[in-house]
Amino acid sequence: MYQWLDERLDITRFNNKVLRKAFPVHHTFFLGEITLFAFVVLVLTGIFLTFNYEPSTRLIKVAGYTDPVQAAYASILYIDSLPFGAVIRSVHHWSAHIMIAAAFLHLLRILLSGAYKKPRELNWIIGMLMLVTSIVVAFTGYALPYDNYAVTATRIGHGIAQSVPWVGVAVAQIMFGGDFPGSDHSIPRLFSLHVLWLPLALMGLIGAHLLIMVKQKHTQPKYAEKVAPGKILGVPLFPQQAVMSGVLFLVYVAVVTLIAGGFLAHPVEAYGPLSANTPAVKPDWYFLWIYGLLKIIPSHWEFTIPLFNGGKFGPEFWGGVLIPSILLVGGLLIPFFSVTKDGQKQRYLELPSQKPVRTSLTIAGLMFLIMGTLAGYIGDSGMEWLTIPVAWTLLIVAPIVTYFVCYIIMRAIWGKTWPQEPQIEFIGGAKGSAADD
Ligand code: HEM
Repeated sequence: MYQWLDERLDITRFNNKVLRKAFPVHHTFFLGEITLFAFVVLVLTGIFLTFNYEPSTRLIKVAGYTDPVQAAYASILYIDSLPFGAVIRSVHHWSAHIMIAAAFLHLLRILLSGAYKKPRELNWIIGMLMLVTSIVVAFTGYALPYDNYAVTATRIGHGIAQSVPWVGVAVAQIMFGGDFPGSDHSIPRLFSLHVLWLPLALMGLIGAHLLIMVKQKHTQPKYAEKVAPGKILGVPLFPQQAVMSGVLFLVYVAVVTLIAGGFLAHPVEAYGPLSANTPAVKPDWYFLWIYGLLKIIPSHWEFTIPLFNGGKFGPEFWGGVLIPSILLVGGLLIPFFSVTKDGQKQRYLELPSQKPVRTSLTIAGLMFLIMGTLAGYIGDSGMEWLTIPVAWTLLIVAPIVTYFVCYIIMRAIWGKTWPQEPQIEFIGGAKGSAADD
């Protein structure tokens, strides 16, 4: 059978070229795979949801409700009533959180180990675009149940989109198909973005990301330099890496199902359909730092450039658009600020302690996001100590202090953890494969 197929499809060549690719074995290298698994589960559970969801705000009568409710809301009630329907919806919801968290941790591993350097700049940029696209996909899905909580939270995003000087109103119109809430086009528009256009874009980007990664090969863990200089160390893609990934995928599905079953996500019945009462909402955790910035930026920080119509720069623009955009552009440019030695390709990973400035800046940046998130809790019960001046102080001082503390710690461990002894037994002798670079 193998020979029959080989004569027709040249499997041996494919096997030698692609399936024998060596994958370094290290637990942090699984973060990219977990991101991928979460995406696969999102697509599979998403297919089930689209079979039963109605992207419409037409009003219909539903048992148990005195007033008619929107069809989108009613269809979520219907999904929850199907066998395993509520759990599958919950798996979808939790996988979205896990995908964004895993992609962010994957980014941190790439950043802290210097894996973004030449020749992997392009994959870093594609990765950043994927992270942003994943967040936008999650945002466009948030309003779909059309319950009171989701609509109120999405309204914050609508306001931010509108706040961009000159073009904001048009951007919001394109994304939401009109006023939100209010326009009958919003849900169909958000639906097509959420289930079609953005996932397609993500699939294209993931494909490019993985092809480039296979072509360029992984940055090698440091021990590879000692064990077999000039060689690529790792286990072959097939069967070893494929089996490990398969097992990890099953573990992922088991864990996310357990979480989803234990903590049913977004209980629409508890929030109720859209009503005139605006509930107190908080956006999802990955938007909380922006929400925090919006809370502490004074409302009088605004000016207008009286040129054409709509040149208004206000707090929503500073906190919701400008600061996130600066971070995004800064992130995209990182590989172009870190040159490799003699312009060579980066073959081996660096330890965080080897690059104290980069590590300290990364941890300080994380502290900035954490302090922004904390500001999102201003006014909550039990948080009376957190006033706007305190939040501003923490936002500015905590990252600076973090930078210096982290720098001192990195310098102190520099030289103690590096150079490391090669971990020969870790790569597993007989199982490990060495291929020429
Ligand atoms: C959002 C979806 C993403 C998926 C599905 C994904 C998937 C993967 C996978 C499976 C790998 C190989 C295993 C590994 O090294 O972890 C990889 C490697 C890589 N990823 Fe991602 N990734 C994503 C996002 C990102 C982000 C946000 C960045 C950085 C901004 C990034 C940058 C890279 C780089 C530079 C490599 C090569 C690493 C090396 O050579 O050591 N990726 N990605």
